[in-house]
Amino acid sequence: MTAFPTRRLRRLRGTLALRRLSAEHHLAPSQLVLPVFVKEGITESQPIASMPGVSQHPIETLADVVDEAARAGIGGIMLFGIPAVRDAVGSGATDPDGILNRAIAVAASAAAGRLTIQADLCLDEFTDHGHCGVLAADGSVDNDATLPRYAAMGLAQARAGADLLGLSGMMDGQVEAVRTALDAEGFAHVAILAYSAKYASAFYGPFRDAVESTLQGDRRSYQMDPANSREGIEEALLDVDEGADVVMVKPAMPYLDVLNRVADRSAVPVWAYQVSGEYAMIEHAAAAGLIDRDRAIGESLLGIRRAGADVILTYWAVEVAQWLRDGKELA
Ligand code: PBG
Repeated sequence: MTAFPTRRLRRLRGTLALRRLSAEHHLAPSQLVLPVFVKEGITESQPIASMPGVSQHPIETLADVVDEAARAGIGGIMLFGIPAVRDAVGSGATDPDGILNRAIAVAASAAAGRLTIQADLCLDEFTDHGHCGVLAADGSVDNDATLPRYAAMGLAQARAGADLLGLSGMMDGQVEAVRTALDAEGFAHVAILAYSAKYASAFYGPFRDAVESTLQGDRRSYQMDPANSREGIEEALLDVDEGADVVMVKPAMPYLDVLNRVADRSAVPVWAYQVSGEYAMIEHAAAAGLIDRDRAIGESLLGIRRAGADVILTYWAVEVAQWLRDGKELA
């Protein structure tokens, strides 16, 4: 007579050594990317109230931020610029002296090949109305009039020395427009990260503070409806057809199903962005004594990896990379 139960899955959970041996998913520092905010006209870092632990940086100290990130061994930094002046077409985005383009150049020289320099390619930080594209006469966001602005922005970022451009504006045809412009101007080597399945999300709230967004209203006419998943797969496949080197799902935690399905179907790497609201929720809950901060961070990142992300953009990138180097358990 066989003893019951015969199959005991607990056996591999008994000790830390067995759990480490049995872990199906891992995280490496190289799989983390740190978003970095660079603000024009400040001389000292300014903490962002909605995102405890995250700051806006002056361009003068950006090289130190890059150096710390490189020493932590992370895969890259994603730059966002906060300009002093904004206008209807987002002129600062395409000006070689604009804050983001200057930041790219400073970061690229500080990185010296130790990590990748990535830049947000979207007009929202540079327009006075806060939308991701230029507006038509009726006030709607004009898809096709925005494409040449993105192409010009992509060229300015490539000229400044970006390795990878993060197209986050959700205009139809944006990947092809930027790819064509880059190839025509000698930047065939610059990669495109398409924020393919980017949802119109409440979880971007703290980020809008971080970039001092002037947006009135919302982005529902161009970012995706949270009710849709099939459409997210289609967005990713379309971006691959248009020439995307990497596709992304954003936010991460509320959209793990979409991430998983895109990862199953994609021929190119799939990344996820753990956005500002996901960050703020864990930080605030931990500060209120409700959850174990470090374990919640580790668990959230493992969940995103498990769902299928090859690389994760996260505001904890440097801290977590240091944990991984110290051999700390993630969850
Ligand atoms: C657009 C952009 C946004 C974020 C990244 N790129 C804001 C938006 O679409 O409203 C949000 C990132 C975050 O919340 O951490 N430039």
